Amino acid sequence: MRVLGIETSCDETAAAVVARTGDGDGFSGRILSNVVLSQLAEHTPYGGVVPEIAARAHVETLDGLIAQALAEAGCGLDDLDGIAATAGPGLIGGLLVGLMTGKAIAAAANKPFVAVNHLEAHALTARLTDGLAFPYLLLLVTGGHTQIVKVEDVGRYRRWGTTVDDAAGEAFDKVAKMLGLGWPGGPAVEAQALKGDAARFAFPRPMTGRAGCDFSFSGLKTAVRIEAQRIAPLSETDVADLCAAFQAAVVDSLADRTGNALLRFTEETGAAPVLVVAGGVAANQAVRARLEALAAAHGATHGAGLVAPPLKLCGDNAAMVAWAGCERLARGATDTLDAPARARWSL
Ligand code: KG4
Ligand code: ZN
Repeated sequence: MRVLGIETSCDETAAAVVARTGDGDGFSGRILSNVVLSQLAEHTPYGGVVPEIAARAHVETLDGLIAQALAEAGCGLDDLDGIAATAGPGLIGGLLVGLMTGKAIAAAANKPFVAVNHLEAHALTARLTDGLAFPYLLLLVTGGHTQIVKVEDVGRYRRWGTTVDDAAGEAFDKVAKMLGLGWPGGPAVEAQALKGDAARFAFPRPMTGRAGCDFSFSGLKTAVRIEAQRIAPLSETDVADLCAAFQAAVVDSLADRTGNALLRFTEETGAAPVLVVAGGVAANQAVRARLEALAAAHGATHGAGLVAPPLKLCGDNAAMVAWAGCERLARGATDTLDAPARARWSL
């Protein structure tokens, strides 16, 4: 089975072709092409994603990217078994561009169409990269979402925790902005943190020690702001130390909440947990290292304990969308051409 995937929910325009073979637990996936065009340069002057600019940039580049993805995969529309496009959640203008394009191709080529939930695409990526069987635990950490989900099957997700305020990536972006590090903030804060002394500031570890798997990052962000204002003007060392202390607090908080989820997984299933981490924040090496140690301490079985898709598949891409399309088609699920774009759409 070969599926074309289209992703336009935020500031990445992406197209990919993915193949799936086999049934049940004997399946395997292969990426035939995976083209991603970042709109970073368009949005950087504004310090964040501007929805109208994003939608227009998707319109300008999507056709060419789809042609490139098909060419690199060495297939024409006739060779495809379906078209999958992200229908939400995300910025509505961009979603409409990808969704309408996907539907138009499906209609013209007379192929099945799948309207993909972007979060589901993130959730199923580990099956494409690692052939994981259900169930497993997913920590999804992006600019818009911070969730812990028990992934039981395609279309069967139990959300055990979510953020009550900011997403983890959002907190990185806001801290970067207040420290003058530009946008996107995650990589900049991580680079500063490497040079800084995390022990210099005692920032709060939100939610730590509480039952459940919910997150909170707004109070931590405010604590960083108050400290930064107190010691201003900031030297280079101050900025590095603030970043290191902030990142350490985020890592502690993520680990505490995820630890609760790993225990609950074992209680519910009687099996050792499998922990998958996905989303842009999963690119952070300190986050990865801590989660790896945590998963191993909880007896996680797969690989080194933590299943983390390669960096290129952690951020937004279309291979994950094509794969989610494969998974749905393999179960006989398709969508009609009146499937709506949905700015908000929980798993
Ligand atoms: O998944 P993603 O590419 O897009 C969505 O939000 O859907 O995630 C982007 C987020 C941004 O907030 C960015 O600052 C954060 O991931 N991020 C990082 C790192 N790289 C990206 N956060 C911490 N450390 C990083 N190295
Ligand atoms: Zn995403």
